[in-house]
Amino acid sequence: MSQRVRTAVFPAGGLGTRFLPATKVIPKEMLALVDKPILQYGVEEAIASGIEHIIIVTGRGKGAMEDHFDINYELDATLERKGKTELLALSRSIASMARISYVRQKEPKGLGHAVLCAKQLVGNEPFAVLLPDDVIDATTPCIKQMIDVYEKEQGSVLATMTIEGPAISAYGVLAGSANPTNPRLYNCTGMVEKPKFEEAPSQQAIIGRYVLSPGIFAMLEKTTPGAGGEIQLTDGILALLKEEKIFGYTFEGKRFDAGDKFGMLQATVEFALKRPEFGDRFRAYLKGLAALA
Ligand code: G1P
Repeated sequence: MSQRVRTAVFPAGGLGTRFLPATKVIPKEMLALVDKPILQYGVEEAIASGIEHIIIVTGRGKGAMEDHFDINYELDATLERKGKTELLALSRSIASMARISYVRQKEPKGLGHAVLCAKQLVGNEPFAVLLPDDVIDATTPCIKQMIDVYEKEQGSVLATMTIEGPAISAYGVLAGSANPTNPRLYNCTGMVEKPKFEEAPSQQAIIGRYVLSPGIFAMLEKTTPGAGGEIQLTDGILALLKEEKIFGYTFEGKRFDAGDKFGMLQATVEFALKRPEFGDRFRAYLKGLAALA
């Protein structure tokens, strides 16, 4: 359990039906938040957290993700010819951003199955999982915060948020109690994927960031389809809980569900306001709209 967390898995084989029609042809992970695909935000978060190897679990029709992190000779040659050095540097930097491996999830059998597809590439060491839909704005990258917790506590760590009301049914939900020494930690005693509101064991919802011990793979191999008929990561982690400690972690930062149309609108406004090149102009524009309303 004391090995370093060097690898991050990005499950990206899903169909993205929540964002149709945009995702009919374009992978949802390639949808732009301001000017960057949401997948790139996650990859940058992982790299800024010390991750050395990125594994993207991809699927049919999602080759644009591979092309994005590859060299585009035609584009680069054109930019060079036109003397657009800044854009050329930007294009090249994406291609050399990280060591990335791809593995295909041949059937959409669920998040747990997607993570299991990365087993051989991860090997027998702890690893991070980042769901690209969840874009997290934080001073210290969310997955870095969680790697630090993993190293200190020697147990798998799941990012959590308090969700009030029936919206909890869209999440994996933890059972357990607050950790007496660290107010950000939650000692798990159970968890359930997408419970009915009345049956949710707490308001502690799992968000798309995990640091997992390699013991998860043996559990996922035995996991049978659960909620929605899919092999759920939550069910695999619940099985792991019988053998190892699992913690919920209230991360510092703000999470946006960019795989959802409304969540993407919120993220677009907030990320645009933070951009120095048009933050002031955009703020003035929004104020003008608010004045009209
Ligand atoms: C997945 C997980 C769920 C988690 C959620 C966070 O669900 O299965 O436990 O709460 O991500 O975004 P999905 O949103 O893929 O249905």
